[in-house]
Amino acid sequence: MVPTKLRVAVIGAGAAGLCAARHILASSETFAPPVVFESSDRLGGTWIYTEEKEDATGRIIHSSMYRDLRTNLPKESMAFPDFPFDPSLPSFLHHSDVLAYLDSYAEQSGVCDHIRFQWQVEEVRPIQRDSGSLDAWEITATVQHPESTQQVTEHFDAIMVCTGHYTVPFIPPIPGLDTFQGRLLHSHSYRYPEPFANQSVVLVGAGPSGVDLALQLSNVAAQVVLSHKRQHVCGLPKDVIQVPPLLKVEQKTVVFTDGSKMPADVLILCTGYKYSFPFLDLAQLGLQETDYGVGPLYQHLLPPQHPSLFLIGLCQQICPFPHFYCQVLFALAVLSGRCALPSVTDMEAEVQRQLGLHLKNGGLARYFLKMREQQWSYMEDLAHLAGFPPVPPTVQQIYEDTHASRLCNVSTYRSRNYRLLGPSAWELVQDGVRIA
Ligand SMILES: Cc1cc2nc3c(=O)[nH]c(=O)nc-3n(C[C@H](O)[C@H](O)[C@H](O)COP(=O)(O)OP(=O)(O)OC[C@H]3O[C@@H](n4cnc5c(N)ncnc54)[C@H](O)[C@@H]3O)c2cc1C
Ligand SMILES: *[C@@H]1O[C@H](CO)[C@@H](O)[C@H](O)[C@H]1NC(C)=O
Ligand SMILES: *[C@@H]1O[C@H](CO)[C@@H](O)[C@H](O)[C@H]1NC(C)=O
Repeated sequence: MVPTKLRVAVIGAGAAGLCAARHILASSETFAPPVVFESSDRLGGTWIYTEEKEDATGRIIHSSMYRDLRTNLPKESMAFPDFPFDPSLPSFLHHSDVLAYLDSYAEQSGVCDHIRFQWQVEEVRPIQRDSGSLDAWEITATVQHPESTQQVTEHFDAIMVCTGHYTVPFIPPIPGLDTFQGRLLHSHSYRYPEPFANQSVVLVGAGPSGVDLALQLSNVAAQVVLSHKRQHVCGLPKDVIQVPPLLKVEQKTVVFTDGSKMPADVLILCTGYKYSFPFLDLAQLGLQETDYGVGPLYQHLLPPQHPSLFLIGLCQQICPFPHFYCQVLFALAVLSGRCALPSVTDMEAEVQRQLGLHLKNGGLARYFLKMREQQWSYMEDLAHLAGFPPVPPTVQQIYEDTHASRLCNVSTYRSRNYRLLGPSAWELVQDGVRIA
């Protein structure tokens, strides 16, 4: 009997989904062409900027992109290892350059014809097969036609979930938040600074969004206050005041944990996002919601009880595109049988062991998926297990240079420009001339 090719469904046509589709298509000896389900009418996910905050049907807009965003990673660390950015671009890009990059990545991979736009996946269910073979899957999706919608159910051998996790705002429990009489929003809904002209703005949280919004608003707003629990952020404009975390809100006044208070016209919660998989029945997959998101996931990637479903890109504080690339190649090696997984119990025990190690090293459970320095050995392990070449050392070297220069001065690190000289050689340049 001729073995039939594996049919893989990819959910989402953002960077992760495009990467999955590209490599499925490139392994045509094992895989049928991918079927990519994309609920919107365009590829790019996070990198699609729109002024709207909800669509015509009142659904939340997927992307949290704002008009003036420049990347917080240089293109040399951002790129997929097999697809460099245009060398004539500066290292830190406007978001529109990243979308153009993803467009040409998709086009040159030949995946565009395999994307079904305006197909929203509603449900993914495992179908048990004979013992010894991996589960099959049933997907139910809603197809949006101009005049009508229709539900369709189809079968696949494997699923790559590539739906991102920067859409659903996480709102921390802040006493009195519902009494706030000014304008309240989450950074998900921030688009540009003009509406905040001459307003007194309090930003909650000093992650990438909080710091970036402080930079964007400082020229425009009457006052910008950054309330956070981290170390002092270096290099913010002098008119940005840093204060301790928020204790409570009383009508127009915000109160901080040191007892100080101030009036605010606007409160912007830069408090991060929640994982959301409305189309998965987690319990059915042997998963549950955890302090850190969902688990247990072997290699932060697959449910041990259903190892033909992969959740790409859940980790945080990573180089997203290289990380997706490694996860996708590992997943395809598993599906094609080139990389054997441990038993279900061993995979579950391994996740417990890693979580235990993380806690023992002083990590909080909720930060289990924040990788930062662990991302390098993680990608190396996947490359080793699946037998593909590891990502070039410059990805890490330039990431770390950027990290250090951002710690020194958040206002200036984006003016650095890197030039690649080889897989482990690079230099800093200014106006095309080497400076370090
Ligand atoms: C404000 C902001 C700034 C960032 N800056 C950087 C940066 O400078 N550098 C960097 O490398 N990374 C950055 N990131 C991280 C960024 O999220 C990743 O680079 C990457 O774009 C994530 O890709 P993804 O494919 O995982 O998810 P997304 O890009 O979110 O794509 C998910 C796709 O899935 C679709 N989808 C969702 N649900 C369904 C469904 N049920 N059915 C069908 N389709 C569905 C969505 O419509 C979307 O197209 C930033 C993120 C944010 C939010
Ligand atoms: C903000 O205040 C300045 C100075 O008072 C004024 O010139 C400007 O017009 C104001 N802008 C808006 C949008 O109200
Ligand atoms: C950050 O850089 C800006 C612009 O060069 C400079 O004015 C500021 O003093 C720097 N801040 C720190 C903390 O180095």
